[in-house]
Formats: sequence, C-alpha cells, structure tokens
Amino acid sequence: MTGPFKLASLPWDDAALEPTISARTISFHYYKHHQAYVDTLNTLVEKTPFADMKLEKIVQATAKSSDDKEKKIFNNAGQVWNHDFYWRSLTPAKTAPSAQLDSAIAAAFGSKDELIAQLAEAGKTQFGSGWAWLVSKDGKLGIEKTPNAETPMAKGVNCLLTVDVWEHAYYLDYQNRRPDFLKAVIGKLLNWDFAAQNFQRAG
Ligand SMILES: [Fe+2]
Repeated sequence: MTGPFKLASLPWDDAALEPTISARTISFHYYKHHQAYVDTLNTLVEKTPFADMKLEKIVQATAKSSDDKEKKIFNNAGQVWNHDFYWRSLTPAKTAPSAQLDSAIAAAFGSKDELIAQLAEAGKTQFGSGWAWLVSKDGKLGIEKTPNAETPMAKGVNCLLTVDVWEHAYYLDYQNRRPDFLKAVIGKLLNWDFAAQNFQRAG
C-alpha cells in the first residue's frame, strides 16, 4: 500500500478485548492516536517520493536519517506500521503456537512460560515509550525492545508479535501499572496464529 495511507480496520470489535483492554482504551488508542499517526504521515509525505512508497519501505528508508523532516516521517510511518502489527498481535480467541513454532520456542526459551516472562520483562524494562517484540532471525526466536517508533522491521528483522508499552496503551485501564498490563495482555491476548504465520513467512 502506498500513500495516501489509510487506518487499517481492527481485526475485532472495540470491546472484544475487555476486560484486559477496555473499549475506552481502544477508542483513544486506535481512533485517536493511531489515526493521528496516519493523518500526520499523509501530510508529511504529500508531494514527496515517499508518497509512492510502501509503508515498510518508508520505515526502512528513513530509519537512520538525520534530516529533521525524514525523522518525523520515520516516527509516524513507524507508528502506523507498529500499531497495525500490534492490533494483529492481539486476539480474544484462544490460540496456541503451531507445532513448528512450538519447537522453535522450546529451542530458544525452553518453554512458552519462559518466552512470556522474557517478553514481559522486555516491556517492563523499556525505559519510557516503546515496544516489546518476539522476532525470528534465521529461524531462531528472540526478544527485542525498541524505544518510541523504532521497530526491528526497520533493520529487516522478521517480527512475530509486539506489545505496545507507550502509556497511551494502558493508562486508562492500569494507570501507572505497566507490569500488570503486560502480564494480562501477554498472558491472555497474544495471537499465536498470527505469530505462526509470521514465523512461517520467514522460512
Ligand atoms: Fe500505541
């Protein structure tokens, strides 16, 4: 998809993640914050070569830029991509890792519980705004955390799942208790079908 960019639909109803994530949080997080990143990106790329580039390419092309306008484009393009990925990382449905993903989890972490503990720790220890990620490199799983709008995808790393740890992701429901938000989201809402699809795509 090239510009003008659109706010991608949510894969579930606004209240589908309650009580872990309230419809009120979605009303601000998706309809206000995510929409604002889309709108700002469209304004910034208008009449530039970025308007004809795919979102992923914009993120990768601007990730290391020292130009002030390109830094703004990166921040907004990164946040559009990260939020699209975040919503698809969550589901109210009961999902479980595929056999192939399960083997990779056992090889990298020993168990799914340990993966969950490490992903929660990454989110908890990300100082300030950012993201916690499950990624794969050459078939091997790993955990990463990134600040602000940064994303492992900018470096060509294959992302499987993400959790948003910006305050706007949890403050209405959990106030300052980011670890409680992480425990609930990672324990109850991760979409292992989405993770398995992403893992398979990497080959
Ligand atoms: Fe967010």
